[in-house]
Amino acid sequence: MSRWTHRHILDLAAFSREDYAAVLELAHRFRSMPVTGARKLPALQGRLVATLFFEPSTRTRSSFELAARRLSADVSSFSPGSSSLSKGESLLDTARTYVAMGADVLVVRHQCTSVPQQLAEALEASGERTVVLNGGDGLHSHPSQGLLDLYTLAHHFDPLHPLPEALRGKRILIVGDILHSRVARSNLWALTACGADVVLCGPPSLLPSAFAGFVDAPPPGQSVDPVPDRGSVTVSHRLDEALPGADAVMTLRLQKERMSQHLLTDLDRYHRDYGLNHARLERCGKPVPVLHPGPVNRGVEMTGALLDDTGRHSGRCLVEEQVRHGIPIRMALLYLMAAAESSADAALASVG
Ligand code: NCD
Repeated sequence: MSRWTHRHILDLAAFSREDYAAVLELAHRFRSMPVTGARKLPALQGRLVATLFFEPSTRTRSSFELAARRLSADVSSFSPGSSSLSKGESLLDTARTYVAMGADVLVVRHQCTSVPQQLAEALEASGERTVVLNGGDGLHSHPSQGLLDLYTLAHHFDPLHPLPEALRGKRILIVGDILHSRVARSNLWALTACGADVVLCGPPSLLPSAFAGFVDAPPPGQSVDPVPDRGSVTVSHRLDEALPGADAVMTLRLQKERMSQHLLTDLDRYHRDYGLNHARLERCGKPVPVLHPGPVNRGVEMTGALLDDTGRHSGRCLVEEQVRHGIPIRMALLYLMAAAESSADAALASVG
């Protein structure tokens, strides 16, 4: 396995296939370990992980905090409402306050694109060792969600070897508000890197056809694509035509705030055209899993019956699996960042 080279984790566009393999392999080990209560792993003992969430979150924040605690780190949480931000303190000064208190890792979520990157650059410029992990920035990127979705799919296709190869040649359909989704963008980098062919599907106002070229070139500021042979990306506006042949379907939260921007006219129509239900999934031609990053609008992106179809062995809906996998994936990320000075091989060897 190659050396882990990412000091900060800001965007999956910079990940090689070996990077995905390192995260998935480590997460799989963490997943199988009993790490609750007194059996926490000592890996991050004495380290401080601060979660700076300037935007609401249920799953991401709590699973980062649980992941940090399971590795024995100390955790400090920042909430904008009860902080000095409301007294006018700048975002960078807020971040520096946590650095001054000894934070080794800042997990940052912000409604504006590039805030985690700007913080990382500012910390680098002043010679700080603190690393930044993007917990979701604007419409841009949500790396830990992309990785936990990747792990959930790899585990579904090959439970004993949930590695990037499990995705090769799979057709993954992503449905919904692609335009405003940082989750879709991170999934596009992750899935195509592992050789999956991605079909994007949504109404034209929420899915511009230019998305077909999304992974054709690295994003601004990155000169090379570390993955030479990505899977394909295609765009469809008709769900019933896109379903046949899909190996998995991921649907995204319909952001109701878009209605006020006149990008959608009515939710019933959206559900009729793009909502998932058991009967519609029959079009895939075989039983396929359904994913959703949450939070779900029950009865909009999918029916309540499909959302509740979560049986451990035969259930179609993997939403709870995704939530469960969020913890080992975030443990893997925190662990690799803390061990960034050594090689990923050494990191894996020390987990046993
Ligand atoms: C998503 C997010 O915040 O980007 N949720 C999540 O992190 N699980 C998706 C969303 O808000 O729709």
